[in-house]
Amino acid sequence: MGTSMGKGSQLESDSGCTLAVAIDGPAASGKSVIGREVARRLGIRFLDTGIMYRAVTWASIRKGVDPSRERELTSVAACSEIRLVTVREEDRLLLDGDDITDHLRHREVDMVVSVVSAVSGVRRALVAQQRAIAEDGPIVMCGRDIGTIVLPDACVKVFLTAAVEVRARRRTAEKAGNADYEKIMDELMRRDRIDSEREDSPLRPAKDAITIPTDNMTIEEVVQVILSKVQ
Ligand code: DC
Repeated sequence: MGTSMGKGSQLESDSGCTLAVAIDGPAASGKSVIGREVARRLGIRFLDTGIMYRAVTWASIRKGVDPSRERELTSVAACSEIRLVTVREEDRLLLDGDDITDHLRHREVDMVVSVVSAVSGVRRALVAQQRAIAEDGPIVMCGRDIGTIVLPDACVKVFLTAAVEVRARRRTAEKAGNADYEKIMDELMRRDRIDSEREDSPLRPAKDAITIPTDNMTIEEVVQVILSKVQ
């Protein structure tokens, strides 16, 4: 995987841990918006690993691969070239050279991404790419298994939580009145269940993660808690 995300930071670790901030949590817990802001303030790179699982899901839908065909899904993950680039300050994802960013949040991807990301072969391929990206320098990385599997030596590990009602309200607001709250809540519960009950790398906090219940917190408050841990 190539990336043009800017490198470079003054962050240094005295304790020998990986210079990384791992942010995990369920869907719509704020990982991406908070992680991006933490990275901006620290002057380091940011990677939302969820988009990589979404890219493989989109590719398998386009190739007509049935979500129950684990070997075929694994081969899609292993053979697709995913690149992250920044275009006019926006992160874009290129799959085999095509910019598929605008497709990644489509409903058809939402419907099957949890199933595709439960496949061990898919995870193996993407985790290897995520670790390689982290080796390039300091990074804030968010997902479901960053603190437990991808970067178990990250300096700071955070697990964001929020009640499903709060998360559904946030997602509904994001879609600007264009969405059904009940449907969104059902969908979040379904994805939470698959993500946390899967055998390989289930969603759970690392033993040394700080859990932040974000229900009644602003984005800025959560960012400040994380920055205080980094310092
Ligand atoms: O964060 P998101 O909603 O974009 O993630 C999409 C799916 O990808 C989610 O249902 C679980 C999966 N995922 C994962 O299994 N491991 C990660 N590190 C990131 C995402």
